[in-house]
Amino acid sequence: MGNSLIFDTLNRPLRDLRISVTDRCNFRCPYCMPAEIFGDRYEFLPRADLLTFEEITRVVNIAVELGVTKVRITGGEPLVRQNIEELIGMIAAVDGVEDLAMTTNAYLLSGYAQKLKDAGLQRITVSLDSLEDDIFQKMNGRGFSTARVLDGIKAAKEAGLQPIKINAVVQKGVNNHTVVGLAEWCKSNGHTPRFIEYMDVGTLNDWKLEQVVAADEIVELIRQKFPADPVGPTYPGEVAKRYRYKDGEGEFGVISSVSQPFCGDCSRMRLSPEGKAVTCLFAESGTDLRKWLRNGSTDDEIKDAIIGIWGEREDRYSEERSEETVKRKKVEMYHIGG
Ligand code: GTP
Ligand code: 5AD
Ligand code: SF4
Ligand code: SF4
Repeated sequence: MGNSLIFDTLNRPLRDLRISVTDRCNFRCPYCMPAEIFGDRYEFLPRADLLTFEEITRVVNIAVELGVTKVRITGGEPLVRQNIEELIGMIAAVDGVEDLAMTTNAYLLSGYAQKLKDAGLQRITVSLDSLEDDIFQKMNGRGFSTARVLDGIKAAKEAGLQPIKINAVVQKGVNNHTVVGLAEWCKSNGHTPRFIEYMDVGTLNDWKLEQVVAADEIVELIRQKFPADPVGPTYPGEVAKRYRYKDGEGEFGVISSVSQPFCGDCSRMRLSPEGKAVTCLFAESGTDLRKWLRNGSTDDEIKDAIIGIWGEREDRYSEERSEETVKRKKVEMYHIGG
C-alpha cells in the first residue's frame, strides 16, 4: 500500500475521489436536471455502459496507491443504483480509504441508512435546499414534500452515519429567505448545514450571476441571529468555510465557489458512471478509463493512465470564470455529482 503521491501542473496532490454511480435521479431540481429536458423519454446511460462494482473498486484500489484517502459516492442519486450497499462494502474493505461518505437527496434513505452503515459507510451528506414545503417542492421539481427526506435524515442519525451534513444550494429570490430557518433547524438537531453558492455547472440551468447570493452575505444573515466565529479547515483543501456558533452548539459552512474560488488546493478527481476520469467539475469532458478496465490492461497500466491524466491537469475553472467561460461546453452536474 503506497503513498506515492502524484501532483498536477499546479502542484496539487490527488487526495479525493468522487464517484458518480448513476446519471439517474428521482428529483428534477431545475438547477440540475430541469424536468422539461429530463422527461419520460430522456435516455439515460444503458446499464452495460455503467462501470460494474468490481470495476469501480478496482479504480479505488489504484487511486489509493496514488494517494487518495477520501472517497465520496454520489450521482445522480446514488440510492437509485441497485444494491449500492454492496459497492459500499467493497470500497470500505479497501485498505487506505480513510473517509467514505455519500451525498444523497435522502428520498430513499430511511430504507437504506442501516444497511449502508453496516456495509461500512461512515457518514452522509444530504442535499436539502429548504425546509419550507412549498419552496422545497419547487426546488426538487417533483413536488415532493420534505417529510421523506426528514425521515431519511432521522434514520441516518439513528444508524450512526454521523456527522450529518446538509447541503443547500442558495438561489436569490428562490430560497435565500429560508437560509436562517434551515440553519436553526440544523443547529437544534446536531447537523452541519453548508450553504452553496449557486454555480454555473453544466449547460442546462441558464445560470445568471444575479441569482447568486454571495457566501459573505449568507454568513452575515446567519450571524445576526446566531453569533459565530470562523474556524480553520478540518483538512487541507476543505471546500466549505466553517463557522462555529459562539454558544458552542454546532457549526455551519459556506461554499463560495463563485465569490471566493478555492481551486488553489483542489485535490479532487471525479469518476463518471461510465468510467470517465474528470478532473474538474466544470470540465468539458473526461478521459475514458473504462476502455482500459475492459481491454485486459494491468493495474499498473491503468495507474500510469491516471498518473498521466493528473500530471497534465491544469484546471482552475472557478478562478477563471467569466462571461465567456459560462457559455463553454461543460459536463453536467447530474452526471458527475457535485
Ligand atoms: P466534506 O468531505 O464533508 O468536507 O464534503 P465536500 O465538501 O468534499 O463534499 P460535498 O459533496 O458535500 O460538496 C459540497 C458541494 O460543494 C458540492 O455539491 C459542490 O456543489 C461543491 N463542490 C465540491 N467540490 C467542488 C469543487 O471541486 N469545485 C467546485 N467549484 N465546487 C465544489
Ligand atoms: N450549483 C451549486 N450546487 C449545485 N448542486 C447541484 N447543482 C448545483 C449548482 N448549479 C448541488 C446539489 C447537491 C450537490 C450534489 O450539488 O444540491 O447538494
Ligand atoms: Fe438529483 Fe441532486 Fe441533481 Fe437534484 S441536484 S436533480 S437531487 S442529482
Ligand atoms: Fe477544483 Fe475545478 Fe472546482 Fe476549481 S472549479 S475547485 S479546479 S473542481
